[in-house]
Amino acid sequence: MPDILRFDNFRLDLQDDEGRRYNLLDDISFTLPEGKALGIVGESGCGKSITSLAVMRLLPAAARVTGGSVSLKGMDLMSKTPKEMGDIRGRDVAMVFQDPMTCLNPVLTIGLQIGEAIRRHNPQMAEPELKAATLELLHKVGIPNPEKRMKNYPHQFSGGMRQRTMIAMAIACSPALLIADEATTALDVTIQAQVLDLMVRLKEGGSLMFITHNLGIVAEVCDEVTVMYAGQIVEAGTVEEVFLHPAHPYTKGLLLALPTLRSKGNTLYNIPGVVPTVRNFTPGCRYAPRCDYKLPVCSERKPARCVLNDRHHAACYLYEEVMA
Ligand SMILES: Nc1ncnc2c1ncn2[C@@H]1O[C@H](COP(=O)(O)OP(=O)(O)O)[C@@H](O)[C@H]1O
Ligand SMILES: [Mg+2]
Repeated sequence: MPDILRFDNFRLDLQDDEGRRYNLLDDISFTLPEGKALGIVGESGCGKSITSLAVMRLLPAAARVTGGSVSLKGMDLMSKTPKEMGDIRGRDVAMVFQDPMTCLNPVLTIGLQIGEAIRRHNPQMAEPELKAATLELLHKVGIPNPEKRMKNYPHQFSGGMRQRTMIAMAIACSPALLIADEATTALDVTIQAQVLDLMVRLKEGGSLMFITHNLGIVAEVCDEVTVMYAGQIVEAGTVEEVFLHPAHPYTKGLLLALPTLRSKGNTLYNIPGVVPTVRNFTPGCRYAPRCDYKLPVCSERKPARCVLNDRHHAACYLYEEVMA
C-alpha cells in the first residue's frame, strides 16, 4: 500500500521574541498508509497540532523548519510555493479544527460558506449546481432539513452542527487526506460519538489523521497510532499492538490513566508532573524526568527507534537493552 503521508526526520524549532531558538519537533518520522486512519496521541503541549499544521503548511510565525521532509502523495510539501500549497489545501488535504466558531464566519450563512469551500477548487461551477452540491454535503454530514438550514448563520447552529458544517467544508473537494485536530474534544460525549461515527463513515476510501489526547477515541477510530511526547515520537504501531502491548513507559502511563469500568471507584493513575514548555525540554529522552524506569543514559542520549516487531516500534533504552 502506498503512503499518503510521510514524515522523514522532520525537525522544527520555535523562535521566541528575543530570537532564541528551541527545538520542538525532534526527528519526527512516521507514515500514513493510504486508506488508513492514523491517530497521533500525547498530552497537551506535545507538538501534535504543530505536526498537523506542517502538513497544511500553516505553521505559526515562530516555527522554523530545520530539517527532514513532509511528503503528501509523494509531493515534497516544504518545497511548494504558497500558490501550489493553496491548490493542495482542500483538494489533497483538509483539516477540521477543535473550535468551529473561530473558523466559521459569523456574518455569512452556512450555505454560502460551504459553497465557497466547493468553489475554491471548482471556480467554474454554476449557481444551481453549486446549490445542489451544498445541499448534498449538508445531507452527507447529517444536517436535517438542509434546504432551510443552509440559510442559517453559525450562531443558529448547535456545537455539534457547527462541527458537522466544518466537516462538510473540509470534505467539499474530496481531499485524499482529512486531518482532524481535537475535532470532537469540545463536544458533549453523545454528540462526540455521533461526529466520530460521521468521520469514520466519510473516510471510506480516504485517509484520516486523527489528533487527540483521548486514547479511547483512537482505539475506536484508528488503525495505527503514533505516541508523541514533547516533540519526540516515543512509540508507534498498529492500534492493537500498541494498546495491548504498550512498550514505552509514557504509553503505559497514558493507558493507565484511561478510565475503564474496572477502575470505577478506585482513584485513577496519573503520570506525575506535566509536559514541560519547549524551553525546558531536557536532553536525551524528554520523558526521562517523569519516567519511573529512567536509566542514567536516558538523560544523555536519545534512545534509538527499537523495532519490536513489524507492526510496532518504541524509542526506549529498556528495549535497546533487551535487544542487545
Ligand atoms: N503559535 C505558536 N507560537 C509559539 N509557540 C507555539 C505556538 N503554538 C504552539 N506553540 C508551542 O509549541 C508546543 C507544542 O504545541 P502544540 O503543537 O499546540 O501541542 P499539542 O497540539 O500537542 O497540544 C507548545 O509548547 C506550545 O506552547
Ligand atoms: Mg493541539
